[in-house]
Amino acid sequence: MSTPYTTSNAGIPVESDAHSLTVGSDGPVLLQDHYLIEKMAQFNRERVPERVVHAKGSGAYGVFEVTNDVSQFTKADLFQPGRRTEMLARFSTVAGELGSPDTWRDPRGFALKFYTEYGNYDLVGNNTPVFFVRDAMKFQDFIRSQKRRPDSGLRDNNMQWDFWTLSPESAHMVTWLMGDRGVPRTYRHMNGYGSHTYMWVNGGGERHWIKYHFKTDQGIDFLTQEEADHFAGADGDLHRRDLFQAIERGEHPSWTLYVQVMPFDDAADYRFNPFDLTKVWPHGDYPLIEVGRMTLNRNPEDYFIHIEQAAFEPNNMVPGIGPSPDKMLLGRLFSYADTHRYRIGPNYAQLPPNRPHTEVRSYAKDGPMRYEPSRTAAPYAPNSVGGPEADIARFGDPAGWEVAGNMVHEPYKLHREDDDFGQAGTMVRKVLDDAARDRLVSNVSGHLMNGVSAPVLARAVEYWRNIDKEVGDRIAANVNGL
Ligand code: NDP
Ligand code: HEM
Repeated sequence: MSTPYTTSNAGIPVESDAHSLTVGSDGPVLLQDHYLIEKMAQFNRERVPERVVHAKGSGAYGVFEVTNDVSQFTKADLFQPGRRTEMLARFSTVAGELGSPDTWRDPRGFALKFYTEYGNYDLVGNNTPVFFVRDAMKFQDFIRSQKRRPDSGLRDNNMQWDFWTLSPESAHMVTWLMGDRGVPRTYRHMNGYGSHTYMWVNGGGERHWIKYHFKTDQGIDFLTQEEADHFAGADGDLHRRDLFQAIERGEHPSWTLYVQVMPFDDAADYRFNPFDLTKVWPHGDYPLIEVGRMTLNRNPEDYFIHIEQAAFEPNNMVPGIGPSPDKMLLGRLFSYADTHRYRIGPNYAQLPPNRPHTEVRSYAKDGPMRYEPSRTAAPYAPNSVGGPEADIARFGDPAGWEVAGNMVHEPYKLHREDDDFGQAGTMVRKVLDDAARDRLVSNVSGHLMNGVSAPVLARAVEYWRNIDKEVGDRIAANVNGL
């Protein structure tokens, strides 16, 4: 078989792969060499802006299969008995840039897109069941404290601890981050959590509050700080390589999905505010109920198209699933589609990883790079030419809840056992064993001994004493020698 010939982007045979069009072999280059111009111009436009957070990531396609009947809780198509739904997953670090090492201590993103019969369902979670702040108003400040200084362009532990110690609601998540799970061994060896509380609505209109837990079938495993530091130099793409190669070898990683289910009326009087993203629901109160299994079985054929241009948005919820009064989640419902319009362009939803596997019949039109034709017969509604009509009766009332009150800027009302340090302390004392506690103390001490100023250090010691007196004292003993 003969070698295929190179073409320009317009499919025209090109004259040379290697030599510009010149006047004589040593002569000047001619502007009419359109293939040379195309190569340079295309190259200049190869990048889209990196994600403002979660820039470094990896992903793969897969399938979600329901293994248990949860139809008494939700009518969502993808969770009905026997259903099998195509999906895309992207895992990521948070603070590092596109080229940053995979093994920096950081939460890991766990973003999922399910191509359901009623459109895309995006569940955009982390490998942690909690988060650093509980109001979208503080998210940008939190992220800036984790990213780079404006003057030196350096990351700065002092900024991180300054923000954390002045934001005590971060204690539970910081304890998590500084523990073993703050650096997973691979993306395959970590759990994923929806983190927020969501609403499920069943076929009869009954509402429940739920939390998602994706437990890794590969088993939890982590890197020590020393191992993580080693790989940050030796193989910055460790986790990306591992995921891609495992799938290539036919070792398809899987996660079993469980939910915790809270009856709608329990929320008002539960001992913790069930919508506060810095808290978990203890398993003893709301046990895990199995739902199904997700398996990643197909690598992207082109990383840029399928993973870099993947656009996850927590606002993508399908009938049977809704948000909760979690103030972080409600903020996120705006943020993601907005950043996609900026990062990828207003027609990002038409790209291969983002387009639903159902027909789109929206009245949107035009804009840069639009290539799917409109299927609405007329570009406006109502119309008299048979265009689509919203049909709420068919899908039931949207998930929601009753609200009344004055408009205020206030924290959540406290429930009986709400505080900033209690659940972090439970993790330190009841979940970690002695060796894990030792590693926690060592990880925190090492982090604090790297560029943290005296006043911030003093606050950090108090912060840890509030989480657990003994752990705080041990950290103090380590850092006070400074
Ligand atoms: P349980 O004993 O039922 O649950 C403890 C959970 O902690 C385990 O199921 C496991 O979650 C998780 N865990 C185990 N080792 C670690 C580790 N090194 N770092 C972080 N998490 C770990 O107790 P409760 O449900 O009453 O929760 C007690 C504390 O456990 C909480 O305050 C919270 O800090 C932590 N936790 C609770 C979770 C929940 O949703 N209830 C989830 C994760 C942690 P998993 O099975 O998800 O791996
Ligand atoms: C990515 C905003 C909280 C998980 C992003 C991006 C933005 C953003 C702008 C970049 C998206 C892109 O360019 O594609 C916010 C805001 C938050 C918030 C405003 C709080 C108000 C959270 C929380 C979680 C989370 C609490 C997890 C529970 C993720 C993940 C990604 C991401 C996994 C990467 C998605 C991907 O793989 O493409 N976030 N975020 N975020 N966020 Fe958040």
